Amino acid sequence: MSLLEFIKKSPKAELHLHIEGTLEPEQMFALAKRNNIDIPFKNIDDVKKAYNFSNLESFLKTYYEGAKVLIKEQDFFELTWAYVLKCKEDNIVHTEIFFDPQTHTKRGISFDIVINGIYKAFQKAEKEFGLSFKIIMCFLRHLDEEEGFKIFDQALIHKDKIYGIGLDSSETGNPPSKFEKLFKKAIEYGFITVAHAGEEGPPEYMWEALNLLNVKRIDHGVQCLKDKKLVEKLSKNQIPLTVCPLSNIKLRVFNELKEHNLKKMLDKKLMVMVNSDDPAYFGGYLNKNLIETQLALNLSKDEVRTLLVNSFKSSFLNEEKKKEWISKI
Ligand code: ADE
Ligand code: ZN
Repeated sequence: MSLLEFIKKSPKAELHLHIEGTLEPEQMFALAKRNNIDIPFKNIDDVKKAYNFSNLESFLKTYYEGAKVLIKEQDFFELTWAYVLKCKEDNIVHTEIFFDPQTHTKRGISFDIVINGIYKAFQKAEKEFGLSFKIIMCFLRHLDEEEGFKIFDQALIHKDKIYGIGLDSSETGNPPSKFEKLFKKAIEYGFITVAHAGEEGPPEYMWEALNLLNVKRIDHGVQCLKDKKLVEKLSKNQIPLTVCPLSNIKLRVFNELKEHNLKKMLDKKLMVMVNSDDPAYFGGYLNKNLIETQLALNLSKDEVRTLLVNSFKSSFLNEEKKKEWISKI
C-alpha cells in the first residue's frame, strides 16, 4: 500500500478542531441569505481572498465575523453535520471538537441553541455510522475570567453533553494564569481541561497551562522547542501536543510547511499528532494536513504511523477503545 493510501485508509482521531472553523464559504453565504445577515463579502471569491492572514489575531477577526450567520439550532446542526460528513470522507472514527459559546451568547444566541444543534448532529452520526465524539467547551481568553464564570454556570445545565473545558482565541497578552480560578472550578466539577498554548505565545504559557490549569493536553504547543526543560517534561510525561500544520502556515507561525518543526518534535519523542484546527479557513481537513505534511517533511511510513497511533493514545477514549483502533492502523 502506498503511503498516500495508508494515510487515506487508516482510521484516525481528530483532537483539535473548532466546529465554527468548519464553516465553508458556500455554507456561510447560504446561512447569511436564510437568516438575513449582512456579511462583509460580495461573493465566494471575495471570501477566499479575505482568507489571507498575517497572524492569529487577523484570522480571528474574520472567523468571528463568519460565525455571525449562525442563528438557529438548525444552523448549528447543519454546520456540524457538514463536518461529520468530512469525518466520514477522511476516515476519522473519533473526534474531540471545540465550540466557543461566548462567540454566540455575545450576539444574543442562547447557549441551549448552540449546544443542542451541535450535540444532535453528533448523536445522529454516532447512530448512523459509529462516529464517536467528545465536546470541549472553550473560554475566549480575550474576555475576562468573570465572563468565563458566567458561561460556565450555563454549561453546567448541559454537563451530560460537555466532556471538557478548553481555552482559545488571542493568545498573546492573555496567559493561562488569567483563568486559574475558573479552571480550578471546572476541575472540581469533574471536567478535564486542555488549553491552547505555545501557538504564537512563549513556552512560559505552556508551563502555566500545565502547572496552573492542570491540562491533560496542550493545543498547538509548537513553541516548546525554545525551552529545553519544557521539552524534557513533555517528553517524560508524554503530554499530548495537538499540532495543526496547515493552520501554522496560514497564521504564519512558520513560513512554509518545509520549515515546520513537527519532525523535530517526533525526533524528541514528544506525544504529537496532526489536526486541522479551522479547516474551512486554513485550506484542508485532516487527510490534507497529513498528506501535505508527510510530503513537505518527507515523513516515513513509521513516522506517519506514530502520528496516527498518537491521535488515539492522546484521545479521551477508554483504554479498550484506544487499543481496538490502534490495532487497525
Ligand atoms: N480559535 C479558533 N482557532 C483558533 C486558534 N488556532 N488559536 C486560538 N484560538 C482559535
Ligand atoms: Zn485551535
